[in-house]
Amino acid sequence: MVDWKSKIGKDIEEILMTPEEIDEVTTRIAEELDRDLSDNSGKVIMLGILKGSVVFMSDLMKKVKTPVEIDFMKVSSYKGTETTGRIQILLDLKREDLSDATVVIIEDIIDSGMTLSYLTDYLRLNGAKCVKTCTLLDKPSRRKVDFVPDYVGREIPDKFVIGYGLDFDEKYRTLPFVGVLAQSVYDPDWSAK
Ligand code: IMP
Ligand code: MG
Repeated sequence: MVDWKSKIGKDIEEILMTPEEIDEVTTRIAEELDRDLSDNSGKVIMLGILKGSVVFMSDLMKKVKTPVEIDFMKVSSYKGTETTGRIQILLDLKREDLSDATVVIIEDIIDSGMTLSYLTDYLRLNGAKCVKTCTLLDKPSRRKVDFVPDYVGREIPDKFVIGYGLDFDEKYRTLPFVGVLAQSVYDPDWSAK
């Protein structure tokens, strides 16, 4: 069997979260969601933001005991390792029942905060009864807009990370851990420095 180390080991500078740590974090967040949502009247929708959140979302939805529906939106703002600052909705949420729903947005990571603050406002404007935000990772030092998520797996330093759903130009999403991307991968001059 070809393992990731022999294929892309040099692309990864450091492992930030092992599969075991991720498992603990998703268990803890599922318990927090159950605690807060158990006496909720009306429906709960876990809204995964494609594509980065799919692995996190699929682990979390299996651990949550509260009955929830799932749905997805797709947005884009990134090119390579930098945000363009413009949020584009690529797949919209077309539902008539938002006024009866608590929507829990599931994200992979918060960086500038623009994606989640935009989506929170967007869902409220579209009539959602309540909007909560949940992210696996948070880089608070990178904020461009004030935004505090309701549920956070772990805060991390200002490093570009990949794996467990997170990508760099669509690569590395299937890795079972979160790792720091080696600078040589996205900065062609790096090895010469
Ligand atoms: P924000 O709008 O700047 O908060 O960016 C959030 C989105 O940027 C996330 O959903 C990711 O798709 C992407 N992103 C931000 N930081 C990283 C990273 O370190 N690795 C992979 N994707 C990232
Ligand atoms: Mg994303």
